[in-house]
Amino acid sequence: MKQPMARLVDDLVACFRRDEQGRDAARALGGYAREQGDWTRFVRFDPAIYTRNLVARNEQFEMLVLCWSAGQESPIHDHAGQHCFMSVLEGRIEELQYAVPSEPGGGPLRQTSRRVFEPGEVAYIHDRIALHKVRPFGGQPAVSLHLYARPIDVCQVYDEETGAVLSKQLIYHSAAP
Ligand SMILES: [Fe+2]
Repeated sequence: MKQPMARLVDDLVACFRRDEQGRDAARALGGYAREQGDWTRFVRFDPAIYTRNLVARNEQFEMLVLCWSAGQESPIHDHAGQHCFMSVLEGRIEELQYAVPSEPGGGPLRQTSRRVFEPGEVAYIHDRIALHKVRPFGGQPAVSLHLYARPIDVCQVYDEETGAVLSKQLIYHSAAP
């Protein structure tokens, strides 16, 4: 019998086979996050930085467990034109969205929304919607499950005050065998 995480990967492969945009992926991700607990073997906290731990990767998508210590946060970033789904596994996650600036370096970014996600809830973002920054909420660590379709190796990160843009090479802190 396969572990729940392996079954989730199989479900997602089927989702993306049916539909390039993975419209059923959010439901699969949320169902897993609410009901299963075998993600703990991907958890690695680092006091210096939030960690990105690879669960699965293929041509259609990559899935990662991200571990956030209290006080850590992502830069403001885009998603390289890909679909990004995020579900909370433990703790709470705050998402701040920002309007995509019309030109790089054009001044302070404009925050457009703020939302706190509870365990099992699923967030979705795409460059057509906004940029965002993600961090744990409430002074506690958090663990989140991220699905990128397709995989993202390089994204753009934005300076909140100046709007300046830099390319960022994304890395894994651990990778499932
Ligand atoms: Fe993101």
